[in-house]
Amino acid sequence: MTQQARPVAGTPLSRVDGRLKVTGRAAYAAEQDAHAAVRGEVHGVIVTSTVGKGRITGIDTAQAAAQPGVLAVISHLNAPKLPYRPYRGEVDPARGERLRVFQDDRVRFFGQPVAVAVAETLEAAQHAASLVQVTYAAERPATGLDAPAGPPNQSENYQRGNADQALQQAHTRLARTYRLTRENHHPMEMHATIARWDGDRLTVWDKSQFVRTVRGELAAVFGIPAESVHVISPFVGGAFGSGLRAWPHVAVAALAARQVRRPVKVMLTRKQMFTGTGFRPLTEYKLTLGADERGRVTAAVHDIRAETSTYEDYREALLTQGQMTYTTPNVRQSYRSIPLDVSTPTWMRGPGAATAAFPIECAMDELAYELGIDPIELRLRNEPERDPGTGVPFSTRRLRECFRIGARTVGWDERAPQPRSKREGHWLIGTGVAVATYHTARAPAQALARVEADGRATVQCATSDMGPGTYTSMTQIAADALGLPAGRVRFELGDSAMPLAPPHGGSMTMASVGSAVQDTCDKLRKQAIALAVADPASPLHGAPAGDVVVRDGRLHLRDEPGRDESYRDLLARGKDGRLEARGGYTPGDEAERYSMHAYGAVFAQVAVDERLGMARVRRLLGVYDAGRIINPKLAHSQAIGGLVGGIGMALLEHTVTDPRDGRIANPNLADYLVPTNADVPDVNAIYLDGDDRKADPIGVKGLAEVVIVGVAPAIANAIFHATGRRVRDLPITIEALL
Ligand code: MOS
Repeated sequence: MTQQARPVAGTPLSRVDGRLKVTGRAAYAAEQDAHAAVRGEVHGVIVTSTVGKGRITGIDTAQAAAQPGVLAVISHLNAPKLPYRPYRGEVDPARGERLRVFQDDRVRFFGQPVAVAVAETLEAAQHAASLVQVTYAAERPATGLDAPAGPPNQSENYQRGNADQALQQAHTRLARTYRLTRENHHPMEMHATIARWDGDRLTVWDKSQFVRTVRGELAAVFGIPAESVHVISPFVGGAFGSGLRAWPHVAVAALAARQVRRPVKVMLTRKQMFTGTGFRPLTEYKLTLGADERGRVTAAVHDIRAETSTYEDYREALLTQGQMTYTTPNVRQSYRSIPLDVSTPTWMRGPGAATAAFPIECAMDELAYELGIDPIELRLRNEPERDPGTGVPFSTRRLRECFRIGARTVGWDERAPQPRSKREGHWLIGTGVAVATYHTARAPAQALARVEADGRATVQCATSDMGPGTYTSMTQIAADALGLPAGRVRFELGDSAMPLAPPHGGSMTMASVGSAVQDTCDKLRKQAIALAVADPASPLHGAPAGDVVVRDGRLHLRDEPGRDESYRDLLARGKDGRLEARGGYTPGDEAERYSMHAYGAVFAQVAVDERLGMARVRRLLGVYDAGRIINPKLAHSQAIGGLVGGIGMALLEHTVTDPRDGRIANPNLADYLVPTNADVPDVNAIYLDGDDRKADPIGVKGLAEVVIVGVAPAIANAIFHATGRRVRDLPITIEALL
């Protein structure tokens, strides 16, 4: 009985919701109509603009409205004026005036919602939507960084030392321009919203990474208190950042539901996902490096331009990598967002970092070849002892170990340094490396925990699980803190009525929500112990609380076998038959005292068919310093997913805009290419043992974002090593290698 149950955190527990998912019983946003509360639901199909800029001159809905089953066709001609109070999502990086649905006749981008057809069936709504006739006074949209829709937004700048002077004095200088195309997230599950009004109260079932911001946005749009909005999102089929804000279709669903007085479901089509839920912005990154003869980078100048919409200024953290990755005493950076006639970009996996790592890590590789220094050795010569941007120590930074382990694993030392030195028939073989970093973010979070009379626990937090396995990892943290087997703990999430959670993004869920769950369950366990030692009927009565431990659902004395009782027995004697605790986590000033980041060394081996220009990844390995790993199975799933996403970024993903009218030329998954099994060979990840207790109480640094960072430059560098061709535009296409 006193035998120590092993902690479940740190073990590869399979997803607690896995069975629900593989049997189709996990209800995603568009499937919540199975929910009894959504009876009487009708369907909304959005009509989108077919010009990229201009004004709507007319909308003829007569034919659409006359179809059987059609309840309404709503556009700016008949939609009520909505309050649209100012609201900035708590973490929303886009400043400006968000798109207001059906409030005026202006078209700001191709694919903008201009009307919604609402009907009894999906088919009737689709047919009605196809019959809506919209006429426009069209203008040519601005779709490229060199011909913007207006003056660039204010530049974000950073400077240390004197980069220009240091460049003048440098032994070697290298000035390069890198271009990254626009990418879309494309989770398997399309975005969808079901909205239902009960008087002035609004309930929405939504696909979201952040239910609280959806609640805030809808309250602002309709001018109602946030408490009147309830957002429910128990399952999310991937999102990658696209679910971090409430996009226009969410307001469309709520508006339509209010107009027709029925619950309305709106699900975006794959095509609508290209313009309706954000994207990684098109970015041009000019980088000039100056170095001494030993390869120490003395100066770096970064000039960055990235697209945003005309109505919002979206920025991501594009400057961090250039400040903290290498010692570099002299740095100057400028970053401007350029307004185009496009919808607003947003975070996409590894936002900022994945983009900035491409120019920085490719340029370091170029510098290594220029100076005849091994690319790993060059990086180690520039490895800082403290954060070179802020001067504060790193909480942990074990990049040297990442390189050592990775180099050993891939046999880096056997690699002949010169390009085109390995060939198998018409295949040229090369190996490349790149650094990955992503800052460790933490934010306030709260949780509620309850142990019921049956000895089972429920723990809640309004966080999300878009795929990393939040349900499972939080169950593990809670089980250990409560002293319960994982099978007797149920973790609940995805409901705005639950305790506060930060956005489920930026790799901050494990650190923030995990620490809150641990605090809450620690409190609950201590409460149970206090109850037992004070209860004359308990075998533990009178024992020092500090000597009581809880394992496997039983409270027992550390050194006295046999003196114990279960949660169940303890609670059976209590008044309410249950125990409840609230707790949370608030980050302290660690971020000022320490530089906190997850790190990785990414190794890629590629083969390039020199006759066809076709690049195939043969092997991909990431070695990560991400702090403590709560669940190695989930971590691995995250890492493999991120690395595969990196293959897409390097070689395939490319949102193509037609400059004539701003339409997306490849708005489907047949033409927008993502890696398939044949593109994904031997992909693996290794995690350094250890934790980072300076970062947060549970010692994690975040893993989800860092695993896509550095993949594209590792592949680009491998392609250079294979072929001698430097490709500085992403994705790297066949044309570029011919
Ligand atoms: Mo991640 S881009 O913060 O979902």
